[in-house]
Parts: sequence; structure tokens; C-alpha cells
Amino acid sequence: MKDLLRTEHLSRADVDLLLDTAADFAKNPLRSNTALSNKTVAIYMTKPSTRTRLASETAVAHLGGTPIFIRGDDLQLGRGETIADTAKIISGFCDALIIRTFKQSDVDELGAESSIPVINGLTDDDHPTQLLADWVTIRENFGNDIKGRKFVYLGDGNNMTHAWLIMGAIMGAHVVAATPDGKWAPDAAVVAKAKEIAAKSGGTIEVTTDAEAAAKGASVLYTDVWMSMGDPEVERTEKMKALAPYAVTENLMSLTEKDSIFMHCLPAHRGEEVEASVIDGPKSVIWREAYHRRTTIQALLYHLTRGELKGLPR
Ligand code: CP
Ligand code: NVA
Repeated sequence: MKDLLRTEHLSRADVDLLLDTAADFAKNPLRSNTALSNKTVAIYMTKPSTRTRLASETAVAHLGGTPIFIRGDDLQLGRGETIADTAKIISGFCDALIIRTFKQSDVDELGAESSIPVINGLTDDDHPTQLLADWVTIRENFGNDIKGRKFVYLGDGNNMTHAWLIMGAIMGAHVVAATPDGKWAPDAAVVAKAKEIAAKSGGTIEVTTDAEAAAKGASVLYTDVWMSMGDPEVERTEKMKALAPYAVTENLMSLTEKDSIFMHCLPAHRGEEVEASVIDGPKSVIWREAYHRRTTIQALLYHLTRGELKGLPR
């Protein structure tokens, strides 16, 4: 596997390797500080980022490489140069590319046209690097035996929901997405893909509109912002109303398992998708989760540049 373009391209063996290496980087961040020496990694983002950008730049630095951050319209891509031509130029100068943008198809094309590893740092449809950080954090809390545990995402059926369902399926977990019906439900094709993967891994995929039933007995309640980057502002009022029942409240947390945790990819809007007392409370693992954005991107860069990820047959 040359790139990480979509969560669904990872095999279980790849995820296990990445999580183990990330756990190791958490203990010893400078273990491989010459892995990328004399190498450069381009980080190109057409959407804002706090964590993914900082995690990526520091991960490259910890591996001994040089990050090159390129913002928004700085490239000629914004003035009509093709993705294929851009990919050839970046491949000529850099050793890997981390890209955050709107369309998944643009990231797929960059991967296909580049000779260097391309990593999806978030699109409208997926957020694979976030899920790696989430699962290192989950393992730190529950160990590797997740049998009988329920992993619940509540809120907008967006890129995070998709990645949550697919990664949960790869891990053989019982994953649930509780979202409104219709416009803000997860993409049906993604749910079908998650079910297909789960059928082989022993996982279970559940999509429901019932937030309380979902929260009951859960080990994890996970949520994300209700307005994602690029979402139409005109829909805000209608969307907030539709999502209100999915806010992670003290009441919902009280239905979960005794050792349950609260997770959020961040940024958060306290008082919207989560109550302040939950996200800032004793069950919240958000800071550790955010910390693992670096350890996992570091692991990903390390193994991808060494050609050590296998991927799934496509
Ligand atoms: N979770 C996450 O991707 O955060 P940023 O948007 O700040 O990168
Ligand atoms: N769903 C959010 C995730 C941010 C990390 C967005 O796409 O804006």
C-alpha cells in the first residue's frame, strides 16, 4: 500500500502495526529520529486545521525530516493547474504528502498520480488519521479485548461517522452510529461497506435514530461538531434542531457502562454537541486522544515511507 487515502483501505494487520508503533512513539517520541533525515513532507490544506497540522509537522520533525506547509490557494492548483501535474511536481520535490481538502475524489486522484505516499488528512467523506488516534486511545483504556463492548458515535452522519463505522468494522467491534434520519444520516454506501467489512471481522454495525438506546451500556460515547467545515450555513438552524436529541449530556453518559469514556475529535462546541461538564469531566479522554494525533501520524509516515503497510486487495 503506497498511500492512506481511505480508512477502508487499511487491513487489520496494518492497523495493529500502526497502533503498536504509535504506542511506542508515545513512550519514546525520538526513537526513529533519522527515519526521514534529508527528506521533506508536504502538508497541503485547503481547510483549517489545528491538530492535524501540528501533529503532522511535529511528527515529521520527530522523524528527522522537514515539513513544508502549503495553505489553501497557494498552489497553482487553485488557478487551474491539474491535479496530475501538481502530483508530479510534489512527487519530484517531496517524499510524502499529507492533504486536507473537500473532495475525496481529489485525494484519490492525487494518490493515483503521485509516486510518493499520500495521506488523507480529512475530506468531506473520511478522516482516517483521526481514527488511528482514537483507537490507540481506546486500547489504552480497554486493552485489546473489546468483546462485549459497544462503541457509540452520536450526532451528524458526517466524515467522522463514516470513519468511525469503517474503522470499528476493521477492528471487529460492535459500533453504533446514532444520527437523525435523512439528510444527516451517514452515507448508505459507507454503511454497506462497513457491514461488508464487519461480516469478515466479526464486528457489528448498527445505525439508529435512538440516542438513548444507543448510549445504554456503551463503553464509548463519541461525538463531533454539528457544522463541519464546508457545511452550508443556510442549514444551520434546521440542523441544530434535528441534532439536539444527539447532544452528549450527563443524562446520556449516565446510561453507559461504569468504565465508559467520552471521546471527541475536536474542535468542540460546548453547549452544542456536548455538555461542558461531560467534555471537561472525569470520563473525558480528549487530551490524550488529541496527543495521539502525533504518535499515529508519526507511525503512519514511518511505515508508509518504508513500504511496510499491506492494505487490502482492491
Ligand atoms: N481533529 C482534527 O482533525 O482537528 P483539526 O481540524 O484541528 O486538525
Ligand atoms: N466533521 C468535522 C471534523 C473536524 C475534525 C469537519 O469536517 O469539519
